[in-house]
Amino acid sequence: MKGLAILLVDDEPLMRLSMVDALEAVGYDVHAAASGTEGIEAVRQKAFDLVITDLRLPGADGLTVLKATKEKSPQTEVVVITAHGSVETAVGAMKFGAFDYITKPFQMDELLLIVERVGRVVALRRENQDLKETLEDKFSFGGILGTNSQMRGVLDKIKLVAGTDSTILILGESGTGKELVANAIHQNSARSQYPLIKVSCAALPETLLEAELFGHEKGAFTGALRQRRGRFELAHRGTLFLDEIGEISPVVQVKLLRVLQERKFERVGGNDTIDVDVRLVCATQKDLRKEVAQGRFREDLFYRLNVVQVVIPPLRKRQEDILVIAEHVLQVCSTRMNKKLKGFSPAARELLLRYSFPGNVRELENMVERSVALGRDREAVQPSDLCGYQSCPFTGGVPQDSCGFCSEGLTGQKRAERPMTSLAAAREEFEKDYIVSVLERVEGSRTTASKILGLSRKALWEKCKRYGIPSAKDEPEDET
Ligand SMILES: Nc1ncnc2c1ncn2[C@@H]1O[C@H](COP(=O)(O)OP(=O)(O)OP(=O)(O)O)[C@@H](O)[C@H]1O
Ligand SMILES: [Mg+2]
Repeated sequence: MKGLAILLVDDEPLMRLSMVDALEAVGYDVHAAASGTEGIEAVRQKAFDLVITDLRLPGADGLTVLKATKEKSPQTEVVVITAHGSVETAVGAMKFGAFDYITKPFQMDELLLIVERVGRVVALRRENQDLKETLEDKFSFGGILGTNSQMRGVLDKIKLVAGTDSTILILGESGTGKELVANAIHQNSARSQYPLIKVSCAALPETLLEAELFGHEKGAFTGALRQRRGRFELAHRGTLFLDEIGEISPVVQVKLLRVLQERKFERVGGNDTIDVDVRLVCATQKDLRKEVAQGRFREDLFYRLNVVQVVIPPLRKRQEDILVIAEHVLQVCSTRMNKKLKGFSPAARELLLRYSFPGNVRELENMVERSVALGRDREAVQPSDLCGYQSCPFTGGVPQDSCGFCSEGLTGQKRAERPMTSLAAAREEFEKDYIVSVLERVEGSRTTASKILGLSRKALWEKCKRYGIPSAKDEPEDET
């Protein structure tokens, strides 16, 4: 690699000069130092790609130069030169992170070969770095990947509003990345050095949620043995992320409304009014407008929360993101688990694109992670790795235990237990189960289900009637 920045540390003038000549002749950018101290000084001034240092030096020795280099810039590679007979010291240097060593006397060509190897490593590293940066600039923000235009819109929006203090309402199906967005908003706000406090509103019954959010005084209720600060107080000057906000009870809704209006509240069982400076970010999978229309969610609270709305589309509506995220997860998992896997076979890609991912990005992540952990360690992930089984009786290899194509998540044993029938009967059985599972997941919405299934509403309705699936039977047929 031309232009590699090299620092050469050697106290013998002749050696130094001939090495500088040889290296410069190849086109490297060489800086020379005549002692260890001088070398360390140079390393502190500039980040070199490579430091070549003699081990025996007056003043600071080569090992000290090595340590100083790695301390200042861990990515800088170091090659040590050692005298014949003191190879052990050189091996010791490798333990401190030296790239390689060369034994004196040596041919210039030997040195050049090592430098060439360093050049390749540095070039590769730069390439990766560049790639990562372009990916990060172009397609991601705060770890949120997305190339789909709607997703780009989401990212632009959160970049724009992160720095403001506006309340944000994040809407999206399970696993679409709502929490990830909340994190990105907090991290990119002026509040980032203060806490981001998260509360899952669905996890707690009403009274506990109230105490959790606002805290309580000693003796406020049975079991309140001492005073406790709530999440609002803990989030002071930072961000409070209220997950599954659609689940909060009317009583808590009223209290929340008051905090939003007045930025004040009292602990449960307390009289002191507490002021807080908290930025609120909320998320829900529910259609909050519908909740309002049906009287389950206060309209005034909805408007307070819905200042900036961020809607994350489900993964099936942004197919171009599937492979981007899959490749990213594959790389991370493959490196972490020390595997060879680098990509997906064409068939595996097709499978990923064909699948509807009811569990969205979380499901995709799990699927890829599992295929890395359990699949065979080859260069490309195959359909059978994604599937977890060798082949699926219905789809010939679509992911089974989570995909809904085989709605029961058949294990090998269950599969063997299944009664042997004609293929047509088996297909019908599957079709029925699959429609039921899709309808369940979309909360009975025939419109959504028919889109996922790729059927007209009429065709879906007919199938439901034929299989005696109740959820859709009572709905009027309003479309042909
Ligand atoms: N666009 C994305 N790029 C990269 N990773 C993503 C993206 N979206 C989601 N993820 C990852 O998917 C997983 C699920 O995301 P997250 O927990 O934020 O979803 P969620 O919407 O909060 O889900 P739930 O409603 O079930 O709580 C996380 O591991 C997250 O890092
Ligand atoms: Mg979540």
